[in-house]
Amino acid sequence: MRIELRWLGHASWSLRMAEHTLLIDPFLDESPTSPVRSQEVDADYILVTHGHFDHVADVVTIAQRTNAQVIANYEVAEWFRTRFQLSNSFGMNIGGGKVFNFGHVRMTPAWHSSQLPDGSYGGQAAGYLITLNEQRIYFAGDTALFSDMQFVSQPPVDIAVLPVGDLFTMGPDDAIRAIHLIQPRYVLPSHYNTWPDIEQDIETWAECVRRETDSTPIILLPGESYRVTP
Ligand code: NI
Ligand code: MN
Repeated sequence: MRIELRWLGHASWSLRMAEHTLLIDPFLDESPTSPVRSQEVDADYILVTHGHFDHVADVVTIAQRTNAQVIANYEVAEWFRTRFQLSNSFGMNIGGGKVFNFGHVRMTPAWHSSQLPDGSYGGQAAGYLITLNEQRIYFAGDTALFSDMQFVSQPPVDIAVLPVGDLFTMGPDDAIRAIHLIQPRYVLPSHYNTWPDIEQDIETWAECVRRETDSTPIILLPGESYRVTP
């Protein structure tokens, strides 16, 4: 199966397969680095890691236009359902998994907060471990480094998408330590260079990944894609 992982800037990603398109944390219209507007993207599913503005900003408009199913933690899913009448909103919780028609999704822990933009309680921040046929793709979400990351490595992770921007999430050094715990074949950095506060020298980081870990870094510019090979 051909799978294409596209960085939409910040922590926004799309995962395109033959029959399905997943969006993760769409923050497009107000993102300084997004290559697309919310009106231009397709989605069957929108996965949301937590309630912060830079992760939920365009979920409602995209879901209303495309009728994509929104997957989020229970509290965030209920917020979409009750506040925006998004009936196609699906709640899960940390540690739980479910088979969808594109593959299996497990909600993983993340060390972060999750308040929603209007001040509503947003439950626990999360990541996602997505299994598509043979591919296991781990989106860590906004998170600090934590030792339980090691538990996603069995069976092995093919691709890990990790925040590296520092300040709000782990920074480049802790992301290297995370790679040692997760041991992915490929690693893609996320949640950096959106604003001056989270600017990083990503080529230096990529060199460090090559030198100090067994993972291969894949560095994209916003709008670029990585074609996942089995
Ligand atoms: Ni956040
Ligand atoms: Mn964030």
